[in-house]
Amino acid sequence: MHMKAEKNTGPKVVPIRFILEDPEPLTGKTEKTLDLKAAVGQSVLEVALENGINIEHACGGVCACSTCHVYLEQGEELVNEPEDDELDRVEEAPATQIDSRLSCQTRIQAEGELVVKVPAWNRNAVKEVPH
Ligand code: FES
Repeated sequence: MHMKAEKNTGPKVVPIRFILEDPEPLTGKTEKTLDLKAAVGQSVLEVALENGINIEHACGGVCACSTCHVYLEQGEELVNEPEDDELDRVEEAPATQIDSRLSCQTRIQAEGELVVKVPAWNRNAVKEVPH
């Protein structure tokens, strides 16, 4: 029996925990904490959507809205620094914090543990815009 060395099997896999303040609109389930795996190179939004966490992403992930806003509670040193465009957009999101990021612009770059909190208002950010 031969085991392949993990470092030779493609992208590095990192643990990522999602904490969902209001899980049902996002996943249809009641679990608030989901421990998942992500690959280095993926965005936080990609990881969420792949795992059935339907974070709002009105612009399709091109940094043109702020609906994919999340809090990066752990792992800031494992992801890319925010660009000016992202910082401008984040300011438009409700309830921003020091650890606010746009999940579509937050790309995992190194191994380690990430913790991402999805605020309860995420699902409603677009619908609340008056028309
Ligand atoms: S989905 Fe629009 S900025 Fe992330």
